[in-house]
Amino acid sequence: MKLWGGRFKKETSSLLEKFNASINFDKRMYKEDIEGSIAHSKMLAKQDIISHEEQKTIEKGLLQVKEEIESGNFVFSIKDEDIHMAIEGRLIALVGEAGKKLHTARSRNDQVLVDTRLYTKRRAEEIGSGLLELMDALIEVSEKNIGVIMPGYTHLQRAQPILFSHHVMAYFQMFKRDLERLESAVERIDVLPLGAGALAGTTYPIDREYVRELLGFAKVSENSLDTVSDRDFIIEMNFVLAMIAMHMSRFSEEIIMWSTKEFSFVQLDDGYSTGSSIMPQKKNPDIPELVRGKCGRVYGNLVSIMTVMKGLPLAYNKDTQEDKEGFFDSVDNMGMSLEIFKEMLLTMSVNEENMKKGIYGGFINATDVADYLAKKGIPFREAHHITGSMVAYCEEKNTSLEELSLEEFKQFSDAFESDVLTLITVEACIEGRDSYGGTSTNQVKRQISEGKKLLEKY
Ligand code: ARG
Repeated sequence: MKLWGGRFKKETSSLLEKFNASINFDKRMYKEDIEGSIAHSKMLAKQDIISHEEQKTIEKGLLQVKEEIESGNFVFSIKDEDIHMAIEGRLIALVGEAGKKLHTARSRNDQVLVDTRLYTKRRAEEIGSGLLELMDALIEVSEKNIGVIMPGYTHLQRAQPILFSHHVMAYFQMFKRDLERLESAVERIDVLPLGAGALAGTTYPIDREYVRELLGFAKVSENSLDTVSDRDFIIEMNFVLAMIAMHMSRFSEEIIMWSTKEFSFVQLDDGYSTGSSIMPQKKNPDIPELVRGKCGRVYGNLVSIMTVMKGLPLAYNKDTQEDKEGFFDSVDNMGMSLEIFKEMLLTMSVNEENMKKGIYGGFINATDVADYLAKKGIPFREAHHITGSMVAYCEEKNTSLEELSLEEFKQFSDAFESDVLTLITVEACIEGRDSYGGTSTNQVKRQISEGKKLLEKY
């Protein structure tokens, strides 16, 4: 007999039962469901809607159900449709009459949201910790490698020399913004939906503020129609996860590239790489590849729920049951990705020699030659042109700017003096870029210490 079976004369088709059920995936919110129900029952008793005796019976019964679930003795069945009815049904079987009063002044429409919001809030906390640990690892890698020089790229063409740590700290900034986005999303998750009823509120004298306090929500929702139909909070979490995934995917792409023989900038630890079943020489970067791949999947989950929501009239519609699997999938995968990505970074070795080799042969100090001329009074656009013709000259002679003699320099401009040769070394190029946020050691160390200060707050 279904909990809602009163008006039905015929059995539900087994096909519908299978199609309709969410219990196979929403059972992971059993703890939140029980917590929500206990708080609801306490409020009902406080408001004299049920007796204190009945409340105690309900609470004891719910804790027993929890025990059964955790010890593996609970029978999950699609006949119960979802976790809410499975738990309520079992409660009634265990405690009888009092159990039948639990659903007073409540609907599954506000109940499912109390579960989902509590659950999402918890998972958001986990993602926050994962982000913080990854940021901590980025600082560790940056500090460990502070002297390492590498080519900085634009269009994936060698552009200007930078510190490797500057590159790593760029990701720190991305994950810092992700953390801010996460914290902001939590503010909108942290709202009590219970009390909205099916859609219009309830005729019982409930106390929502009391339930809010019991469950630790920051606010009580304002409009019952909005409350039962809103899935913005879960969309926002999907978005935050998608953004984290995108940042990790970009870094992954670089690590994959850097691990090739062609680059050989880094080497992944044996413990965090895989081999080939046929080619004995292979060492494959499966972790960053999978992280890059998961990004596509997480985007899919975001687009999927956005699309589910786009045509829904107020208030509750069953369509919104589709909000969970995608989110669960994204949060599970991103939780794992954050953790393994961090381990991979901490164990990765950096090939300082090869990174530095990447500096040479690409005229990576050409900007500095142009800047040299500009600082001697030649308008920058003209200095750019002169340097361009010097690059062409070097290419023809198969040499580099720093290998030219002073006489050769002077062929291009009288403004060149002997100090040019010391001002266009790689080290001078890097340390000279001491503008706020630049790549000089000074600026990178500042970023690292600001980063540490931020992490200390958590
Ligand atoms: N399993 C449902 C969901 O996830 C619970 C709410 C059902 N409400 C209803 N009126 N059928 O959305």
